[in-house]
Amino acid sequence: MREIIVAGNWKMNTLPWEGVELARSLALSNKGHVSPLIVLCPPATHLFLIKSALRDTSVVVASQNIHWEHSGAFTGEISADMLLSIGISWAIIGHSERRQYFGETDQTVNQRTKRAIEAGIRPIVCIGETLAERDSGQTFSVLERQIDVGLKDVHVTGYGGVVIAYEPVWAIGTGRTASPEQAQEAHAFIRAEIGRHFGHEIAAKTVIQYGGSVNEINAASLMVCPDVDGALVGGASLTLAKFNTIIESARNKRIKPLPI
Ligand code: PGA
Repeated sequence: MREIIVAGNWKMNTLPWEGVELARSLALSNKGHVSPLIVLCPPATHLFLIKSALRDTSVVVASQNIHWEHSGAFTGEISADMLLSIGISWAIIGHSERRQYFGETDQTVNQRTKRAIEAGIRPIVCIGETLAERDSGQTFSVLERQIDVGLKDVHVTGYGGVVIAYEPVWAIGTGRTASPEQAQEAHAFIRAEIGRHFGHEIAAKTVIQYGGSVNEINAASLMVCPDVDGALVGGASLTLAKFNTIIESARNKRIKPLPI
């Protein structure tokens, strides 16, 4: 059975003490549950504090970015060694906001992903098409390219822990979610592509999260999809009750998988 992972991407929101409070409350309300795995992705300033605040819990803390070099003149970036030195062993890579506002490309996603794997950091690699690409029928070719280039030269042995987040750009922060049918179709395609590169056994094990305006109302219908293995949640992860409802939907999937 595949892991189910629900991640909260706080983006550039909360001050450190607010983040600590939210993280602690979240850990407390999910205490004793083994699934889904909960991953929090706070801003870089919070990582050390939140990691310490969650040390006796099963909630994982992830960076929102990671650079491919060990050190050097890369203002504003963060290295794998820095993350590991404070116990952070997860990172989001290639979020569409990084691609859109900070010049991230499939090539840089590839460099970051390879470095993360080499360092033992589990990457959540984000892919997804824009609205123009979907409207012009390019969804699958875009996903194919993002996987081909983003995971180029990643070896099967190192691939094991890569998490893919399918986040259609048109659904991020817009209140417009992919329908369960659209999500399932894209996820099944992504799994087939992973199979083509890394073999079917690995494809079957790969966690593919859905992201883009997931909230407490639509989460249940998305989690029902057989190839949706959790969610990468932005806005709704900043409100404890909403995020907990999403987590609960993912938990129900594991307890009683629903037929689509
Ligand atoms: P959203 O963001 O849930 O606010 O749409 C998702 C994401 O960017 O990961």
